[in-house]
Amino acid sequence: QRHLISAADLTRDDAVLILDTAEEMARVADRPIKKLPTLRGRTVVNLFFEDSTRTRISFEAAEKRLSADVINFSAKGSSVSKGESLKDTAQTLEAMGVDAVVIRHGASGAPYRLANSGWIDAAVINAGDGTHQHPTQALLDAFTMRRRLVGRDAGLGQDLAGKRITIVGDVLHSRVARSNVDLLHTLGAEVTLVAPPTLLPVGIETWPCEISYDLDSTLPKCDAVMMLRVQRERMNAAFFPTEREYSRRYGLDGDRMAKLPEHAIVMHPGPMVRGMEITAEVADSDRCTAVEQVANGVSIRMAVLYLLLGGNEPAVTHTRPTGS
Ligand code: CP
Repeated sequence: QRHLISAADLTRDDAVLILDTAEEMARVADRPIKKLPTLRGRTVVNLFFEDSTRTRISFEAAEKRLSADVINFSAKGSSVSKGESLKDTAQTLEAMGVDAVVIRHGASGAPYRLANSGWIDAAVINAGDGTHQHPTQALLDAFTMRRRLVGRDAGLGQDLAGKRITIVGDVLHSRVARSNVDLLHTLGAEVTLVAPPTLLPVGIETWPCEISYDLDSTLPKCDAVMMLRVQRERMNAAFFPTEREYSRRYGLDGDRMAKLPEHAIVMHPGPMVRGMEITAEVADSDRCTAVEQVANGVSIRMAVLYLLLGGNEPAVTHTRPTGS
């Protein structure tokens, strides 16, 4: 049984194999017919209990480019609203002959539970669980960094050793930040988190990264800066930072972007809240890779599906979630 639950489960060699395979998959997108027969006859269900635009659609595009049969399940409008459990939902879907489950869930640990409960035999891929992990997002971010900072061909077989990455914003609620810190550390990058003290999780001092409260002093020293959305939907309204105060200290505008080294890129996992963590000027600039990250997400998800279901599989194992 093979799953992808957490970026922390990937060794350096696993991660580089996925990035290299994604480069091969990206070449399929450049062809007139953007399809491979690899997963013909295999069925993948996209099991989404939380909203998504990028992850859901790019998994679907990846599955279709690999010729899998695709079932899309959204908790909204399903029998989940009548009280059906995750176990019964998953077993109902598996009864229809599912080989892999791509799951997004609001509860940290739900994909781990699905993979380890014995409820189903299908491979499980985590598409984001609560504040815990979003491993394919971290992989597509690393893929984007490697292409931009090392090179598309020069990057093959390479990691991100010595690259300086700054991640800014609501780390407390961010599975993207947690996954990126885990994967970037494995790939040899130096990560600095910049956030208000109230938006850092308990235990942050054990994460393999530096912490700063001063964005302006970190920008001149980084190769990539990744802006995070303030996740109001996971906050008590009493703790909302005001937009003006937050963007003044932690937002990226044109003046701040000018402090970056010339080669440095601006990243955002999306969805962006323009005017809060990033201005429209920065979001629409040539240095912002947000749209490129989305395109790269299809190649990464093709690579993960191929390696788990169809090809030379990496030793992807899984650990118990430690997230909040
Ligand atoms: N980055 C990301 O996970 O976006 P979605 O929530 O739209 O999938």
